[in-house]
Amino acid sequence: MTDADAAPDSAGDATTGNAAAAEAPQSLSKDAPAQAPAAGPPMIAMSKVDKHFGELHVLRDINLEVPRGQVVIVLGPSGSGKSTLCRTINRLEPIDSGDIAIDGVPLPAEGKALAALRADVGMVFQSFNLFAHKTIVENVMLAPIKVRKVKKDAARARAMELLERVGIANQADKYPAQLSGGQQQRVAIARALAMSPKVMLFDEPTSALDPEMVNEVLDVMVSLAKEGMTMLVVTHEMGFARRAGNRVLFMADGSIVEDTEPESFFTAPKSDRAKDFLGKILSH
Ligand SMILES: Nc1ncnc2c1ncn2[C@@H]1O[C@H](COP(=O)(O)OP(=O)(O)OP(=O)(O)O)[C@@H](O)[C@H]1O
Ligand SMILES: [Mg+2]
Repeated sequence: MTDADAAPDSAGDATTGNAAAAEAPQSLSKDAPAQAPAAGPPMIAMSKVDKHFGELHVLRDINLEVPRGQVVIVLGPSGSGKSTLCRTINRLEPIDSGDIAIDGVPLPAEGKALAALRADVGMVFQSFNLFAHKTIVENVMLAPIKVRKVKKDAARARAMELLERVGIANQADKYPAQLSGGQQQRVAIARALAMSPKVMLFDEPTSALDPEMVNEVLDVMVSLAKEGMTMLVVTHEMGFARRAGNRVLFMADGSIVEDTEPESFFTAPKSDRAKDFLGKILSH
């Protein structure tokens, strides 16, 4: 399945968000991308976003602006709404109220406009969801051909470039089952990049991997960040968060409880929820 295959859903009209945090904190870590003053609209703008699953208030008054090129790490306990947050950003999940805009364009409710805008937002999940009966290169070519109507030869050439970039061009004609988990996840990243997204969302991209394969995936993500990709990353990889993140969002019970620069989050968390969370994960 590609993101573009997901069913459209309904949502209200959106305008550019008016959230705080317009100014990106400068990270001192060496791998974090330099944060130039953001020109133009924020890449992601969420304003007063609320969502329920039945009785459960899963997102509560989310206000978030992510400037172009920023790498945002999303942390929080299980069930706090991190995945749901990601999924609303490309409308895999509808919202009850509020506004979401990508690069200044309100997310349309449904139809072709939604498919086009959703293609601006690449998403990489914990499970790779590659098509088992297609080769690696075919997996990467598929969405550009189907959604962007790219010619097959051009799609293949671009797919090979992307496989080169993630370090697995030599596996292009294999099938997913013949690759390691780390290699498959790099294919999933290449597949998302094939749509030339403006934003990349990563939802625990390394959680399902054997430990020795985690770094090969994080390295690809670090290089993407350095190239200026706007990224929102849900991860438990604290080394990566400190190294590559410009900003940490800490979520609890559907709210953004802290929104700060990584070093200050890790060294001086403000809320009890964050202190408790860090105490648990850092003691592992
Ligand atoms: N489709 C759904 N229908 C009903 N409830 C859902 C649905 N998806 C998620 N939830 C609930 O919403 C809450 C937030 O889920 P979400 O997956 O966003 O959390 P998360 O922070 O990503 O957690 P984890 O760290 O375990 O991945 C949870 O209580 C979850 O059970
Ligand atoms: Mg999740």
